[in-house]
Amino acid sequence: MYAFSNAVNSMHSEDIKLLMKQSSGKSMISFAGGMPNNDLFPVVEIDEIYNALPNDLKKLCFQYGPTSGFPPLVKSLEKILLKKGLPVDKNKILITTGSLQAISIITQEFVNQGDIILTENPSFVGALSVFETYQAEIHGIPIDKDGIDIDALKQKIASLDKKPKLLYVTPNYHNPAGIIYSPKRKIELLEVLSGTGIILIEDDAYSDLYFKEEEKYLTKSMKCCNDFDVEIIYTGSFSKILGPGFRLGYMLASPEIFEKAETIKQALDACTSNFMQILANEFINKNKLQPYLEFLRKEYAERKDLLQKSLEKYMPKEVTWNEPKGGFYIWLKLPNHIKSTDIFKESVKNGVVFVTGRTFDPVSKKDDRLRLSFANVPLEDMDKGVKILAEVMKEVFENRSKLKL
Ligand SMILES: Cc1ncc(COP(=O)(O)O)c(C=O)c1O
Repeated sequence: MYAFSNAVNSMHSEDIKLLMKQSSGKSMISFAGGMPNNDLFPVVEIDEIYNALPNDLKKLCFQYGPTSGFPPLVKSLEKILLKKGLPVDKNKILITTGSLQAISIITQEFVNQGDIILTENPSFVGALSVFETYQAEIHGIPIDKDGIDIDALKQKIASLDKKPKLLYVTPNYHNPAGIIYSPKRKIELLEVLSGTGIILIEDDAYSDLYFKEEEKYLTKSMKCCNDFDVEIIYTGSFSKILGPGFRLGYMLASPEIFEKAETIKQALDACTSNFMQILANEFINKNKLQPYLEFLRKEYAERKDLLQKSLEKYMPKEVTWNEPKGGFYIWLKLPNHIKSTDIFKESVKNGVVFVTGRTFDPVSKKDDRLRLSFANVPLEDMDKGVKILAEVMKEVFENRSKLKL
């Protein structure tokens, strides 16, 4: 018997381990993985970039770097974020080892055991796992197709006898719900938070992956247009636009928050890999990122269309969903009396995996939904996978109604 710390008792980290296993099962058709498609990675371009690096930069790849990040990459990012309208002049960028590390650093910076963190319900399971590790008290707020439920948020804040430290949201192409906040909802959210002292974490891992150019404006960050003086920490990632293997993310925060965050990062891993930062920076500076993003948007839009068509073709009529405008996910709603865990047990037997709804509930309960990722399913498996899933669902629904008779 080991005397493990309380921190290891995060329920959601077990879910994540399972998720990683499900995503990589060779013989399964997997709608589980929230990761980019292996066949789309810019392998050739990165080969060329490394080979063409001057020797001094190659050597630097192997070296430690500043905790805040490889300065040329910070500069490149500043330009990118400025173009998106983010206030880089009044804030500072900290490069992190994946944006999950940014979430972890922010939590460490502000949250003591028992402090309250508000999240959406459902919410990104990786963040839930971090919040649990720091022994926060997590309160989930429901969302609808336009974003977080404003009335529920107001009621929650009013009902708590302690002020929440943080509110964590993913407004653009939500994981798992696939939605994007309406511009109106983004403003309403800022209005509610104004004057409360609750810090908003705006997780923006997916905003570059919109499907239609004319809908790009919807991805505008709340930190761009914050007339309400809400403290917003903006986080971003290279994982979905270059590759999670780079483990590159960042946060944009006020100088004071940045400074403490840098100290925490110093103790965590000293710096993010110089190797990856240099390659990513060259990729940006050689003007390869924008064309690559255009390519990705088209690819993922096609994959989404294919999944949407197969769902329309096969799904029982009781199953509903919103067609996403970007990102990786479709979030199916089951009839109320059906649990996605029950569907999962049967679909695994038939060679199809996805992620159950309860995985994304802060208290691992609500289970009337399931997440399908269209990002990493081989195109030739998509239709077959949905057909199998639909047949499994019909069978589970029928058995359930027989039980009720
Ligand atoms: C909403 C959201 N935020 C953050 C991350 C983590 O990304 P990273 O690989 O940068 O740590 C993910 C990854 O799935 C995500 O879905």
